[in-house]
Amino acid sequence: MVCLGNICRSPLADGLLRDKVQKLNLPVIVDSAGTSGLHAGDKPDHRMIKTASQFGLDISDLRSRKFTEQDFDIFDSIFVMDKDNLHNVSKLARNNVDLQKVTLILDLIEPGKNLEVPDPYYGGDEGFKEVYSLLDRATDQIIHTLTHK
Ligand code: 4NP
Repeated sequence: MVCLGNICRSPLADGLLRDKVQKLNLPVIVDSAGTSGLHAGDKPDHRMIKTASQFGLDISDLRSRKFTEQDFDIFDSIFVMDKDNLHNVSKLARNNVDLQKVTLILDLIEPGKNLEVPDPYYGGDEGFKEVYSLLDRATDQIIHTLTHK
């Protein structure tokens, strides 16, 4: 799961998917990163931690890190939150195999529309709730794909 800072959207996506794969005992490794690296080492934003906890999800143990080229070797799928991050991650791809791993995450629930998970960082609480709702649906879709292969 990849966004810009790895403190708002991608840690939530990471936490949601981790929780869902754990509950189903699926052998899947979930992680998240940011393309900026500006917040490396930081906890998720307190507003995202609070929103997650209102839905019974604890993401406070996650720590921000920068996305690197090596992530293409470790992960089969890379979900990005918006088009800027799609661009930044795609720039690091070394070949077509890498490139094909990258998906705009909302394509999973609204295919072909190129929709973005809005950046909630400079907005109010509603933005964080909207991000939760979108990423809950998108991660449900990932679980559906993993369990209906
Ligand atoms: P995120 O949100 O990409 O969802 O983690 C942001 C976090 C930090 C900043 C921007 C967006 N920032 O400018 O520091």
